[in-house]
Amino acid sequence: MGYQAHFRVWRGDADGGDLHDFTVEANEGEVVLDIIHRLQATQCGDLAVRWNCKAGKCGSCSAEINGRPRLMCMTRMSEFAEDEVVTVTPMRAFPVIRDLVTDVSFNYEKAREIPAFSPPKGVAAGDYRMHQVDVGRSQEFRKCIECFLCQNTCHVLRDHEENKPAFAGPRFLMRIAELEMHPLDSLRENTGADRTEVAQQEHGLGYCNITKCCTEVCPEQIKITDNALIPMKERVADRRYDPLVWLGNKIRRRRT
Ligand code: SF4
Ligand code: SF4
Ligand code: FES
Repeated sequence: MGYQAHFRVWRGDADGGDLHDFTVEANEGEVVLDIIHRLQATQCGDLAVRWNCKAGKCGSCSAEINGRPRLMCMTRMSEFAEDEVVTVTPMRAFPVIRDLVTDVSFNYEKAREIPAFSPPKGVAAGDYRMHQVDVGRSQEFRKCIECFLCQNTCHVLRDHEENKPAFAGPRFLMRIAELEMHPLDSLRENTGADRTEVAQQEHGLGYCNITKCCTEVCPEQIKITDNALIPMKERVADRRYDPLVWLGNKIRRRRT
């Protein structure tokens, strides 16, 4: 049976805005994105909202629903009481373009800064061989749909605009971890750069205090903190405090 849902939606642009109340029809089986689309079709033809797949796979419809970062297309109306006010606001960590649409280009800039997969020299593309166990290790991270909800939630970015230049955020630290786990990645052999050190020195791994808030909001249930960030932090610590690595660095410094 249909009912009248109470929605409070943020409307505005980069110069500011506020919350507007609407009453919109809702039907059995619908999700928040359905209601936003009906609102757009019946009351606010110019409401800006980004979406593509309506299946939780494109990562476009990220927003904050009752203050919690979520995908609008994967949030069922049945989660809310019929008389509850459902508040929909844009992601807070990124600049608003208009209404529910934010400028997420920060994320693409961070993605470009990460050194790409570096294949071993002298091995032709078709000759790569990997064990399934190695494939499986980083497979989890490949499920990322780039919704940037983890980036939006991480307090290092969310509350501190000034951290953005130095901190890549969980999604991109996870990308470094994924490459670091790749058995054929040869960045160190090819260029001398160590991915864990790159994460620590250039992408702010040290800012992460493993609160796991990023993991909690990931719609793909990727264990970002446990499986990517903590292992990478452990490797940074191992390398820093390993006496052999320390000795090697000292000798190398003396020779140069
Ligand atoms: S675990 Fe680290 S990256 Fe994830 S939200 Fe917390 S501080 Fe941010
Ligand atoms: S890791 Fe999860 S929350 Fe972060 S961008 Fe990917 S899918 Fe979204
Ligand atoms: S519309 Fe694609 S993830 Fe929601």
